[in-house]
Amino acid sequence: MVDVTIGQGCHSFLFGKKLGPKGLIVGLDVDKDSIQRAHLKLKDLACKVFFIPDNFSRLTEHLHKQGIERVDFILADLGVSSVQLADVGMGLSFAEDMPLDMRIDKRLKTTAADIVNKTDEKSLADLIYKFGEDRASRRIARFIAQHRRSRPITTTGQLAAIVCRAIGSPAKKRRTRIHPATRTFQALRIAVNDELQNLKRLLVSAPPLLNQNGYIAIISFHSLEDRLVKNDFRDNAKRGTYRIITKKPIVPSQEEIAKNARARSAKLRIARRQ
Ligand SMILES: C[S@@+](CC[C@H](N)C(=O)[O-])C[C@H]1O[C@@H](n2cnc3c(N)ncnc32)[C@H](O)[C@@H]1O
Repeated sequence: MVDVTIGQGCHSFLFGKKLGPKGLIVGLDVDKDSIQRAHLKLKDLACKVFFIPDNFSRLTEHLHKQGIERVDFILADLGVSSVQLADVGMGLSFAEDMPLDMRIDKRLKTTAADIVNKTDEKSLADLIYKFGEDRASRRIARFIAQHRRSRPITTTGQLAAIVCRAIGSPAKKRRTRIHPATRTFQALRIAVNDELQNLKRLLVSAPPLLNQNGYIAIISFHSLEDRLVKNDFRDNAKRGTYRIITKKPIVPSQEEIAKNARARSAKLRIARRQ
């Protein structure tokens, strides 16, 4: 099986226990620290495990290089882990003030700070609207542009404060409990890491890589990703390439959300190669 977002290795660990000594897990991650953590977690499994520290958009190329033509399972758990969110070096979170970076793959050149400080106001508003689906995008971009005229925005805390000033408290204005900066941060993370294009490439690469009756399972965390997965599975089902296993996505129970609030927006979709 291929775990294209191996993270801390928790999902792969469960797969590994089922696979036994004849099994093979290939784990990808763009974050080298995640690969190291997964390595520790999986080192005692009976099955073989090897790691590829790269983007899942190049999955086919990497598997072919290893002499693997087809696999029985492709698993993706998109986005970032809680460990990465808490990592000051990643600069992903406004829960704590950190340098505004957001590159999961440190080989990338453009940081979130580059985008907020260098993109013209209209393009910034378009980006926040397109990738954050935030209807207040124009106002947020205006406040960002005003602020950076006096000094650049360099930290997550600064940016969150600017967005809060632009749109006010969530309870008063937006009838939602999410933090006002959540959508802007989502938009920037998607842009910095090219997340939607990477997902599209993964979806295109999957059918030729799956054995007959092999599975693809994808956990997404926001509607832009989920829509891509849903439409891709539907199109492949129409072509007769997939059978959709989850007519509706599998979502976490209230109990799971109570234990892990970040799971609240997770959606799992599964399809089987025909
Ligand atoms: C939600 S975590 C996965 C957690 C994992 N399922 C586990 O059991 O620990 C997502 C992981 O995917 C990685 N990632 C995100 N986009 C990626 C991409 N395009 N290619 C490879 N890895 C990616 C992140 O670095 C992160 O470690």
